Amino acid sequence: MSFPQRYGPWALVVGAALGLGAEFCRQLAERGLSLVMVALEKDELDTLATDLADRYGIRTHTVTGDITAPEVLESVALLVDDIELGLIVYNAGLSVCGMWLDTPLERHLKTIDINVTAMMTVLHRFVPPMIDRGRGGVILLSSMSGLLGTPMYASYAGTKALTLNLAESLWDEWRPHGVDVVAVVPGPTDTPATAPTSRARSAIPRR
Ligand SMILES: NC(=O)c1ccc[n+]([C@@H]2O[C@H](COP(=O)([O-])OP(=O)(O)OC[C@H]3O[C@@H](n4cnc5c(N)ncnc54)[C@H](OP(=O)(O)O)[C@@H]3O)[C@@H](O)[C@H]2O)c1
Repeated sequence: MSFPQRYGPWALVVGAALGLGAEFCRQLAERGLSLVMVALEKDELDTLATDLADRYGIRTHTVTGDITAPEVLESVALLVDDIELGLIVYNAGLSVCGMWLDTPLERHLKTIDINVTAMMTVLHRFVPPMIDRGRGGVILLSSMSGLLGTPMYASYAGTKALTLNLAESLWDEWRPHGVDVVAVVPGPTDTPATAPTSRARSAIPRR
């Protein structure tokens, strides 16, 4: 079975415009998957989507906005309801650097919103049709910070530990239904989020 037959014809990539998410989009497009792409900034997202459609002959839909906003999720759902989604890549991530007590509580809670709550919402909403079809895949972005406590990034590390554990559990639950689950555990990777002058909202720990 070819990659598009196993995981296509459409993939949803949340956090698609920059860094690792943009690279996932490139590699999936190269393998022939059409893309629903979600990111915060419209210009970069649309530029990448147009480039990939031209280069690989795939179709693309873009949704701009914060995936934690209910109206953004609904925009994604409207698109996904009309297509056959075979792969979900949840790549969006927020990392807040600082001593835990010195960091406003709302920053910790926003980290949980983006890294955990929205991820679970996306999976709960869009995986059931894959289970019904008996095929599909899910890629979740954990981190080496998820393998151990990480001072100055305590909440981020906690969300990435949850992500890894969730992926392992769901891998077993969904395996009999033909839906693969994998957690990616990147080490420090140069992306816009890690650049010293980054405007990105998702700065990543360097360890
Ligand atoms: N880079 C590393 O060293 C590293 C290490 C371990 C784990 N990771 C994980 O890998 C993932 C990607 O990291 P990265 O370095 O590639 O980050 P990045 O370069 O900042 O890219 C993140 C992408 O997600 C989008 N995004 C962020 N928050 C969003 C939200 N609330 N709603 C919708 N889209 C959102 C951004 O949109 P805009 O483009 O519009 O800003 C961007 O396209 C994250 O989950 C991160 O925790 C990264």
